[in-house]
Amino acid sequence: MKTIYLIGFMGSGKSTVGLRLAKKLNRSFIDTDDYIKQNYNMSIPDIFKKYGEQTFRQYEIEALRNTTAYSIIATGGGIVERKENILAMKNGTIIYLETSFEEIVNRLKKDQSRPLWKSTKSEQMTLYNKRMQMYKKNAHFTIETTYKTVDEVVSAIVSKMKNKCGL
Ligand code: S3P
Repeated sequence: MKTIYLIGFMGSGKSTVGLRLAKKLNRSFIDTDDYIKQNYNMSIPDIFKKYGEQTFRQYEIEALRNTTAYSIIATGGGIVERKENILAMKNGTIIYLETSFEEIVNRLKKDQSRPLWKSTKSEQMTLYNKRMQMYKKNAHFTIETTYKTVDEVVSAIVSKMKNKCGL
């Protein structure tokens, strides 16, 4: 089975779904944000605060390069901001977890851990719309998650993979 890359906006459930999917398929799993936190022994907000977004993006490129041995990879919402990441992920299967803007707003109401979410509603929406195009353009397929439970999303991925790739 090719590596599965889960992409999507902050709060779309990539990490939770990825972990559950890995358990169901008995595959290895890693989250690029967790890799970065462990590798640099710093939280994501601290990396943004101390070194800025561009350094974080560089760490993200390295994280993707260093995790190719894993079978299921949950990525950060901004992974599509760098072309080399998209190229690397194209070697595997890229799955976009699509979630409506309203649902993201609802899920991230109290979130303090995502520097790029700490902005005005209009900036949040601009980022969402820009990213949505990038996810759609680059994913091998899209799974709608807005009204689904984690298990329903996992089942939807498994059945799509069976149809498309003979999982
Ligand atoms: C980011 C998303 C975050 C994290 C960082 C930047 C983004 O990951 O990588 O805060 O640019 O969208 P999640 O998508 O897991 O929240």
